[in-house]
Amino acid sequence: MVRLTHIFTFATCATSVFASFARRTDPQAIAAKRAEAIKRFSSTIKQRDESGFLKERAPSTGVKNITFTNPAASQFYVDGSNFPLVDFDFGPSWAGLLPISGSANETRKLFFWTNGGPGCSSLEGAFQENGPVTWPWGTAKPVQNEYSWTNLSSVLYVEQPVGTGYSLGTPTAQNETDVAAQLVGFFQQFLNVFKELKGKNFYLSGESYAGMYVPYIADYIYSHPSALDLKLKGIWIADPVLGWDVVQNQIPAVNFVHKYENVFAFNQTFMKQLDKINKKCGYDDYMSKYLKYPPRGKLPLPGKSVEYDEGCDVWDLIFEAALLINPAFNVYRIFDVYPILWDVLGFPGSFPNEQTKPLYFERADVKAALHASPNKTWEECTSIDVFPNGDKSLPPTFTVLPNVIEKSERTVIVHGLADYVLIAEGARIALQNMTWAGKQGFQSPLKTDSFIVDGIGAYGNMQSERKLTYYEIVLSGHMVPQFAPWAGIQSMQYLMGFRSKP
Ligand SMILES: *[C@@H]1O[C@H](CO)[C@@H](O)[C@H](O)[C@H]1NC(C)=O
Ligand SMILES: *[C@@H]1O[C@H](CO)[C@@H](O)[C@H](O)[C@H]1NC(C)=O
Ligand SMILES: *[C@@H]1O[C@H](CO)[C@@H](O)[C@H](O)[C@H]1NC(C)=O
Ligand SMILES: *[C@@H]1O[C@H](CO)[C@@H](O)[C@H](O)[C@H]1NC(C)=O
Ligand SMILES: *[C@@H]1O[C@H](CO)[C@@H](O)[C@H](O)[C@H]1NC(C)=O
Ligand SMILES: *[C@@H]1O[C@H](CO)[C@@H](O)[C@H](O)[C@H]1NC(C)=O
Ligand SMILES: *[C@@H]1O[C@H](CO)[C@@H](O)[C@H](O)[C@H]1NC(C)=O
Repeated sequence: MVRLTHIFTFATCATSVFASFARRTDPQAIAAKRAEAIKRFSSTIKQRDESGFLKERAPSTGVKNITFTNPAASQFYVDGSNFPLVDFDFGPSWAGLLPISGSANETRKLFFWTNGGPGCSSLEGAFQENGPVTWPWGTAKPVQNEYSWTNLSSVLYVEQPVGTGYSLGTPTAQNETDVAAQLVGFFQQFLNVFKELKGKNFYLSGESYAGMYVPYIADYIYSHPSALDLKLKGIWIADPVLGWDVVQNQIPAVNFVHKYENVFAFNQTFMKQLDKINKKCGYDDYMSKYLKYPPRGKLPLPGKSVEYDEGCDVWDLIFEAALLINPAFNVYRIFDVYPILWDVLGFPGSFPNEQTKPLYFERADVKAALHASPNKTWEECTSIDVFPNGDKSLPPTFTVLPNVIEKSERTVIVHGLADYVLIAEGARIALQNMTWAGKQGFQSPLKTDSFIVDGIGAYGNMQSERKLTYYEIVLSGHMVPQFAPWAGIQSMQYLMGFRSKP
């Protein structure tokens, strides 16, 4: 009897909790708030129902079908109205394999798809970041991306260097010059087929390790003006490799943990241990001592190594501790918590997470639709090394980036503030240590809240000097067009001259 009474009391209690919960979460009131929020983030999108949800089938994106006169172009045509698992028409595009040179026995081929860490596939960009179709983590099916960069321009996604994604052949690149020469070789073959694109304005973009590729490719194009019949105007790189590991990973790591203390949720004993190492290794006061606007001369290393001195690898300590307390901890965006969202591409997260097989780009129907080789195994990031002996090139701030900024109309660097793979404060250090257009670094500091996204408001920090514009984007992880697409497309509009202010 006693026990029953007990249960009864408990049940009453629970009922009343639910009742008040329900009052505060009136579904209509929530739907209205949500519809309002969605309007704010996508004022132009029409195909939503009254509650703000996407309707089943989105209309065509209205992408123009360019007519290519070379009959060879048609073998690459992709029908966007009939694509595996995509239930809307994303317009025409072209995809397939082309060799990196015109020699008859060339076996190395890069894969491209137009439409809009080394060795990671550009199809991640196409399919989860800035393409017209996107399949976000945890989502049941692909949806139309209203922030697609194909709204601004034709986009060419190339899986490169050789060894990446659907590309064919054995990697031979020793350094970034080799990568650039091979890509330019591919472009020549591409423009022979798609002749109508010759002479067009051209922008290069990429993220992460493309902080190496993109400036080196641009520099190669600027120094071989007759190699490519395209007008290079500028580059865009997101969360890029710019300088030494110690700068982009170690120096800012513990300060980053303090900034997001409640997200990491480390225990106090561990925090004290981190602070001690941070101090011992010369990281703790590095920013206050050396990060000046304008800088006071070249910035020193905190120790002897460009990676980390012995006992100073705080980045890995933090990563391991973060995974201990939060199994969903995602180095690419620190806000992710349990449960782990599934990803149709299997990666990136902190570790590969394949819940369905095959991965989307391993499906035979997808390979056929894109004219990829049915026999090539597609991996989001390849398990073979695309630089068989390592990449011999130095980070771009020490070499080619200054020249590229000077030769380009605009250069845009964006950085997500929730990225732990490469940390924004480290990018600040790398940029303050670089000399371009006659001066070292930015002369004035980034102004807090100075990046304003249209229709939303302050979305981070920004500084623009001597043709280089650097954005730091709140709430975004490593893949900016995926995590803050409204910020990504606005920075691209600025790069392309569609807007005068960043
Ligand atoms: C991009 O184009 C599509 C289709 O025309 C449109 O629905 C969408 O609102 C556009 N997005 C932006 C950001 O302009
Ligand atoms: C688009 O152009 C290609 C040739 O480049 C052609 O094969 C295809 O049928 C065209 N598609 C539409 C929808 O007009
Ligand atoms: C292609 O063949 C030529 C000789 O016909 C040879 O010189 C060259 O090294 C070959 N290239 C490759 C990539 O095998
Ligand atoms: C890059 O490597 C190639 C060999 O693959 C070599 O010929 C070239 O000199 C290297 N370039 C630079 C800038 O180191
Ligand atoms: C700054 O640049 C110089 C070369 O100009 C380099 O030797 C030094 O290691 C760089 N410092 C940092 C912190 O990257
Ligand atoms: C505190 O965190 C560290 C690092 O994750 C861990 O090794 C240690 O066991 C934790 N201590 C407690 C009491 O949870
Ligand atoms: C794929 O492999 C099969 C069986 O080995 C072979 O017959 C076919 O020619 C290959 N296809 C391509 C495009 O390499």
